Amino acid sequence: MSGSTDPNSEELYIGVMSGTSLDGVDSALVDLSGKPKLERTHFLPYPESLKAALLALHVPGPDELARSARLGVELATLYAAAVERLLQNDLRPERIRAIGCHGQTVRHRPAEGYTLQLGNPALLAERSGITVVADFRSRDIAAGGQGAPLVPAFHAACFRDPRVHRVVLNIGGIANLTDLPLEGAITGFDTGPGNVLLDAWAREHIGKDFDPGGAFAGGGQVVPVLLEAALADSYFARSAPKSTGRDHFNLSWLRSLGVGRYGAQDVQATLAELTARTIADAILRCCDGASEVFVCGGGVHNTDLQRRLHAALPGRMIASTEVLGIHPDWVESMAFAWLAQRALKGEPGSLPEVTGAAGQRVLGAIYRA
Ligand SMILES: Nc1ncnc2c1ncn2[C@@H]1O[C@H](COP(=O)(O)OP(=O)(O)OP(=O)(O)O)[C@@H](O)[C@H]1O
Ligand SMILES: [Mg+2]
Repeated sequence: MSGSTDPNSEELYIGVMSGTSLDGVDSALVDLSGKPKLERTHFLPYPESLKAALLALHVPGPDELARSARLGVELATLYAAAVERLLQNDLRPERIRAIGCHGQTVRHRPAEGYTLQLGNPALLAERSGITVVADFRSRDIAAGGQGAPLVPAFHAACFRDPRVHRVVLNIGGIANLTDLPLEGAITGFDTGPGNVLLDAWAREHIGKDFDPGGAFAGGGQVVPVLLEAALADSYFARSAPKSTGRDHFNLSWLRSLGVGRYGAQDVQATLAELTARTIADAILRCCDGASEVFVCGGGVHNTDLQRRLHAALPGRMIASTEVLGIHPDWVESMAFAWLAQRALKGEPGSLPEVTGAAGQRVLGAIYRA
């Protein structure tokens, strides 16, 4: 591992990301002494019971306060286990400057002035013996921003090229893009659903957490009237800054479109087309002149979705971030390691032109080891 011969020159951080898909915990050990360098990774899937409890907490219900506090404890315990696996037996906690822990979003309501990520960072600091930076989004919302997306500054640090206009596209539960023009402001926003609706429908109809490779969607036919109804959602036409989540795009939203009238496989195909079309429309509308699109997040593994994306963006170079040296599964967790470093250094991590906040802010609350 780089830096292991000279621990003084290394700046090791850990990013811990658990996203909208509720699939589990992505952890990345990153050396941030220079250009971000991914050293180790670990994925810890959520136990089924935790996933169900978190899903249940996404909608209003009884005893929410105690349930969220208990889930925060359970999440911190899981995050600590993930960190322990990352350290293996050869890295002492003192070698790590901080853990940037995103937490699990259960509400994202910037218009109402709040966002809520569970994860009990105090407990994670105790269990790991490492400084934890958490609650990255609240400060930006307090400054009038969306609190999301927060990854564009990191995307710019890793992927911006002065010679070519690029877009970085993360297809997680929600899809978000970062526009990296040759000159001028970096912009970025959530385009809408990434995998979240695909996963929910796959779970109901093929009994799996997701549609592997998009094979189920690939065998269906897009239902034009359903696609048009979905595209009519006002979120897609809104101009940036904007962000969204499971609060909005979920099974109830899908049912409100009358999906029950169509064959399950055709609905899956239509949802895949919806993700691809809304991403492509956003790129065509907001990233004028971009010639390269680099994709990260779990959606990169969905062959059917990638095929649809290529079809919707003819003539564009579309490739995984792997081509630029960072494996697509770890970009988002690396971003939270990077944001933790910014916080410890007292440097801003947000881009107000992306989130709409009144200005740049140092993001996150620090829980010292
Ligand atoms: N082989 C695959 N085939 C189809 N879909 C896949 C495959 N592997 C992963 N996925 C999709 O990727 C999702 C997980 O992606 P990811 O972890 O990037 O999302 P996330 O947890 O919501 O993250 P974030 O919020 O940071 O973007 C899965 O839920 C699934 O939909
Ligand atoms: Mg995930």
